[in-house]
Amino acid sequence: MTRKTVRIAMNGVTGRMGYRQHLVRSILALREQGGLDLGDGTVLWPEPILVGRREHALKALAEQHGLEHVSTDLDAVLADETVDIYFDSQVTSAREEALKKAIAAGKHIYTEKPTATGLDGALELARLANEAGIKHGVVQDKLFLPGLLKLKRLIDGGFFGRILSVRGEFGYWVFEGDWQAAQRPSWNYRAEDGGGIVVDMFPHWEYVLHELFGRVKSVQAIATTHIPQRWDENGKPYDATADDAAYGIFELEGGAIAQINSSWAVRVNRDELVEFQVDGTEGSAVAGLRNCRVQHRSATPKPVWNPDIPATEVFRDQWQEIPDNAEFDNGFKAQWELFLKHVYADAPYHWDLLAGARGVQLAELGLRSSAEGRRLDVPEIAL
Ligand SMILES: NC(=O)c1ccc[n+]([C@@H]2O[C@H](COP(=O)([O-])OP(=O)(O)OC[C@H]3O[C@@H](n4cnc5c(N)ncnc54)[C@H](O)[C@@H]3O)[C@@H](O)[C@H]2O)c1
Repeated sequence: MTRKTVRIAMNGVTGRMGYRQHLVRSILALREQGGLDLGDGTVLWPEPILVGRREHALKALAEQHGLEHVSTDLDAVLADETVDIYFDSQVTSAREEALKKAIAAGKHIYTEKPTATGLDGALELARLANEAGIKHGVVQDKLFLPGLLKLKRLIDGGFFGRILSVRGEFGYWVFEGDWQAAQRPSWNYRAEDGGGIVVDMFPHWEYVLHELFGRVKSVQAIATTHIPQRWDENGKPYDATADDAAYGIFELEGGAIAQINSSWAVRVNRDELVEFQVDGTEGSAVAGLRNCRVQHRSATPKPVWNPDIPATEVFRDQWQEIPDNAEFDNGFKAQWELFLKHVYADAPYHWDLLAGARGVQLAELGLRSSAEGRRLDVPEIAL
């Protein structure tokens, strides 16, 4: 077995996503399992270089996890020829410029979504990356969630018949920050800092809908700011200038209609923080992050509308849980593994910067649809 060290510059690892999901649950988890076996006698050993703006925070992280390399000088890290991959989980507004530098330096790119703040920028990144001949990937973690993997299994097995509709419900209450601290960073609520639920969530909905049900052909959305004032990390009040809820309807290729509510101003009365109900001619399913339950046509009750009597059936009990039938790894780690295999073993990989640009496009059109009060076509994009 040959061990190949892979040096990965990780920018934004002090953040929520960068630290928990990408550093700890993906890269460090890979090290804990002894590296990534490529199946050809090579084991990849990821060596992160923690990049950021605050040296003390990076050093504290490195020390906590027994890592050696930190830097506040992105240019110097990118000029280092031993660094193969640049990963970005910075705030969205800082991403485009950093990715451009990394592409120009010839690094392979793996990045959080959204890849840029507008479609033009996202397409330019994809173009530049292709011209530079580097490999590139964009996080599409929801596809690797156990609940959605089970849903995909049902689709592939023909469970639904003709799929009619998809109803997604995503959200939870994000505290305003005055009497209880907010559980999301304040930049999420300022449009001028790249915040907003449409920019955050529509990229996810684009690839979930596209990969499971069909490409999004049109969008009609209302984005709104339900909570206009919030309190930041220092307890200072600020104007929430970004949308904190979006109500979207998406027409899909293949004929299904999807409707997804996304909100940081809703209280959870669901089993999971996101749930998708899929109704088909042969059966229906409700999939969340981890679980998925179904009701087949043959087991569908026949409710009769009569408000004069109490409900006679417990409808939620009439669904059947789909078993795991497999072990599910962390979704972020699963996608990292596929990306590393793509870079070092030429394995196929289609969640690239062009796929990322589709997500940015849907967010951009969603916001425009809301501003203009009309339904908009989503043209297919290509390079
Ligand atoms: N895939 C997912 O499910 C998912 C979920 C949440 C967020 N995200 C994406 O991950 C990225 C980071 O989100 P997060 O919630 O981890 O944010 P965060 O605020 O917790 O972290 C942001 C990181 O960027 C760094 N940074 C660089 N320049 C900055 C600047 N000018 N101002 C403030 N911070 C700066 C911070 O130091 C920190 O390391 C965003 O692009 C977001 O869209 C993805």
